[in-house]
Amino acid sequence: MSASEFGFKVTATDGAARRGTVSMPRGEIRTPAFMPVGTGGTVKAMYMEQVRDLGADIILGNTYHLMLRPGAERVAKLGGLHSFARWERPILTDSGGFQVMSLAGLRKVTEQGVTFQSHIDGRKYDMSPERSIEIQGLLDSDIQMQLDECVRLPASAEEIERAMEMSVRWADRCKTAFGDQPGKAMFGIVQGGDSPALRERSARALVDLDLKGYAVGGLAVGEPQEVMLDMLEVTCPLLPDNKPRYLMGVGTPDDILKSVARGIDMFDCVMPTRAGRHGLAFTRFGKINLKNARHADDPRPLDPDSNCPAARDYSRAYLHHLVRSNEILGMMLLTWVNLAYYQDLMAGVRGAIEAGNYADFCAETQAGWEKGDI
Ligand code: GUN
Repeated sequence: MSASEFGFKVTATDGAARRGTVSMPRGEIRTPAFMPVGTGGTVKAMYMEQVRDLGADIILGNTYHLMLRPGAERVAKLGGLHSFARWERPILTDSGGFQVMSLAGLRKVTEQGVTFQSHIDGRKYDMSPERSIEIQGLLDSDIQMQLDECVRLPASAEEIERAMEMSVRWADRCKTAFGDQPGKAMFGIVQGGDSPALRERSARALVDLDLKGYAVGGLAVGEPQEVMLDMLEVTCPLLPDNKPRYLMGVGTPDDILKSVARGIDMFDCVMPTRAGRHGLAFTRFGKINLKNARHADDPRPLDPDSNCPAARDYSRAYLHHLVRSNEILGMMLLTWVNLAYYQDLMAGVRGAIEAGNYADFCAETQAGWEKGDI
């Protein structure tokens, strides 16, 4: 079922955990949702058909990468990111600020926006909140993120406050630039580092702007998990119940279970795809490093009960061999294993919230990781 307007409905709760549906013209997003990262118009090492078959309702793209290569105007001329990348369902794009801070050279942030040098060819670019929204529009992104400034922790209280306040002003400018697009959404991003007081101020100011959804940013940037969870406990109750909440760049399966318990609806992270390219498998039995020599003679699959052929049908010995030989197929199979695991985990999360046994589901899942498989 597709809707003509962007909407969000919570259909079940269990404690602070929510089961819901985001409706948009390009399709529905079952929440809690994990969005595979498709930075440059590809979920690395996967076919889009596979990504969908695993249960993904939405993928993420990156303004920063796509503006540099192949260029937003070019993507627009070719009909937008969906047909270009052959993913006709919803796409959320990050605004670029975060990637500029982690990837670009010679950055300068002012009230107007950010200037930076491309990490690819050194060319100079300007990105204002308005230009970020323009690019996300050229890509035809369904959920667009405000431009924000995320400071790395630890940082001084003054620095965190300055970036948070400016991010609120940028949210206001992004809202104006986005205008009235009923089938799409622009989300604000709560900042405020590890300060509960600044998180509260950021959340209240963004809620006053009456945006269609809210992200929590500036987390999983080097702080302990406990600090991240504390920030969610401060922030989530301040956000409107009838709008989706997205925790950016998170995380491990354990981070996801604990964040859902605090009221988060959407996640994205490079972890399953990046780890898959580095020989790491996420399974019901925890993380398995296939580079390890102990797998060299092991004829067992990663998980005989998995629905994913890569986890069910290929021996650990073969996967070990592929990883050790740096074969492309090793990366493909392990990315498949990991995205299958993440999507199965989210399906389990949604089912458990509906059944009202989310705490038991988390305890059983975590016990499986701890027990291991040997
Ligand atoms: N991805 C992970 N964290 C962040 C953040 O704080 N801001 C943005 N824009 N993207 C992110």
